[in-house]
Amino acid sequence: MTRAITPGTFDPITSGHLDVITRASQLFDEVIVAVAASPNKKPLFSLEERVALAAEACESLPNVRVIGFEGLLVDLAKKEGATVLVKGLRAITDFEYEFQMTALNYELCPELETVFIMSPPQYMYLSSSIVREVASLKGEVGQFVPPCVEHALGKRFN
Ligand code: PNS
Repeated sequence: MTRAITPGTFDPITSGHLDVITRASQLFDEVIVAVAASPNKKPLFSLEERVALAAEACESLPNVRVIGFEGLLVDLAKKEGATVLVKGLRAITDFEYEFQMTALNYELCPELETVFIMSPPQYMYLSSSIVREVASLKGEVGQFVPPCVEHALGKRFN
């Protein structure tokens, strides 16, 4: 049984995240979506809200579980018995940051294997920050996020 962990701030979860999570759920027996508190990023949605939105977005994926966490990702992975870390890669601009995080996580926990899943072309430009900006300017975000997130963004900015 291989348990994978997919971490992120998910502020909020987008269709791009959901695509990576869905692909991971087809590759591994169990996938834990780990929503980081990330207080330094001053998220728009609280940790509880981000967990609830991600859980609703993933409800059709039976082997996916969503949890919130504070502290080091490698400690969470050990506690949860996850042996694979799944990250989404969009463009080459993600690479430097992901490269650094992968090296650091490897130093902290060499048994945890990081695996990258490439986003398909239609999600390569998509990010939570772009979605937040479009929503804050009253733009349409329905094509970028699951319906529950569209609803939550509408409530937040209207
Ligand atoms: O969606 P994000 O904000 O790019 O995700 C970054 C995240 C949450 C994966 C990263 O910041 C993280 O792992 N945070 C937990 C704290 C930690 O373990 N930091 C050291 C690894 S870089």
